[in-house]
Amino acid sequence: MAGDDNSQIVILEPTINPISTHSAIRIPDFDTLLEMVNGSYDSFSNCEAPLGEQLSDTISRKMETELDIQMIYEDIMSKGSDTIPTLNRNHHAAFCHGVISGPIPGMFSKLDASKPWVSFWLMNAAVLLKTGLSSQEKSNASSFLISILDKSFTDDNSYYGFGGGAYQLPHLAASYAAILTLALTEDEQAWALIDVKKIKTWLLKMKQPNGSFIMHQGGESDTRAVYCALCIASLLNILDDELTEGTAEWLIRCQTYEGGFAGEPGDEAHGGYTYCGVAALLILLSPGELLKSGLDLDSLLKWTVDRQYSLEGGFSGRSNKLVDGCYSHWVGGTCALLEAIFNYQNNEDSSSFRSLIDRQRLQNYVLCCCQDKMGLRDKPGCRADFYHTNYVLCGLSMCQYYQVYDKEAVAKYGNAFFAEPVEIEDSNVVDIDSANKVAALDAIFGLPYGYAMKMHDFFLV
Ligand code: FPP
Ligand code: ZN
Repeated sequence: MAGDDNSQIVILEPTINPISTHSAIRIPDFDTLLEMVNGSYDSFSNCEAPLGEQLSDTISRKMETELDIQMIYEDIMSKGSDTIPTLNRNHHAAFCHGVISGPIPGMFSKLDASKPWVSFWLMNAAVLLKTGLSSQEKSNASSFLISILDKSFTDDNSYYGFGGGAYQLPHLAASYAAILTLALTEDEQAWALIDVKKIKTWLLKMKQPNGSFIMHQGGESDTRAVYCALCIASLLNILDDELTEGTAEWLIRCQTYEGGFAGEPGDEAHGGYTYCGVAALLILLSPGELLKSGLDLDSLLKWTVDRQYSLEGGFSGRSNKLVDGCYSHWVGGTCALLEAIFNYQNNEDSSSFRSLIDRQRLQNYVLCCCQDKMGLRDKPGCRADFYHTNYVLCGLSMCQYYQVYDKEAVAKYGNAFFAEPVEIEDSNVVDIDSANKVAALDAIFGLPYGYAMKMHDFFLV
């Protein structure tokens, strides 16, 4: 901040809260596209650099992206509303099933040390696409994962979790991906081979005195690690006070002045870390406890809805950065969780659901901009990959359902199981062509709905 003149303190007016604008917009599909290209949006593309200043690389790339996307929408508009792409389900499913049952293609060889993630992204996407998983695909995945659990790299017996492959260090993110994949396999014989007591001992080793968790022995602590640890503990029914003491307080310290969450206290707010922080808090606290936890809900809400760009319709992960399809889940999922809290707070029934974001625009971004020939992608110009295929589909699911607070599930299974998806039938909120329909998502675990409860049920006994 230039501080030459201390006598004048300029207080910037807050920008218009997009909650009011977004929630008021109820426009059908084609009209939304029309509006997007008719200039009724705030866009960097319309800005002149003040005093001929040089634009930063990020702003230049943001402008180029906006123009690319505007051209895509204009092209669709010029041809007519029936040319809006539908979900190319069969091609995306072929992209997933081809790799689930075969070796990782050479161009993705970097992912060889992240095998649980590859299995998770592709199997999760296949279930969201409603193409199902064959018994062979499921048993291959479960036997592979159990084999790497047996061969995890350990200094002593207290390190027991999944690494990225055989003879790798147990890692919280790899373990989260592995356990979610095992949930998708529904293979109870494999589940019975997980030594949950040893997992608990390992999780306690990862726990830090400040309440956070580190990703692995000697590794970094951040909100991702906390979220992964709490999901694992919830699914395996080992979540208790010893594991969670001080964790909610540490998470609250990760909320930044902007409103979103950083990876650790003092860093920049980011969509990925915000989703992890909010989902982790909701595993630990009831909505009533959350409201008294010190969380600044208003600024969180504002920062989250500000991530949706009006031209693109998709989300960015942080202020002034580019739209990216994966934030349809990380930021869209945060919106879904916040909507569920409001639904609980207002004791609303399903007919009074109010959307915090513009679902129609987000669905348009997914369908018009994130579909590669096979698989889904970050943005036009990018190639599809496994990570984006899963998280873009999670975001599409978020558009088509909303989450209500399920008191019975909470009483039976705990806070983590509070979010129950309900199909949106109001075509003013999102127009769901059956060709575009995907399965409902569990907003906390990122799994298709029902798999998390089934696994937790198994470990209840
Ligand atoms: C920035 O990438 C990305 C991050 C700082 C991390 C994001 C975190 C997640 C996606 C959550 C992961 C969750 C689990 C469960 C492991 P960038 O600078 O390339 O992208 P940007 O420009 O969009 O910020
Ligand atoms: Zn991305």
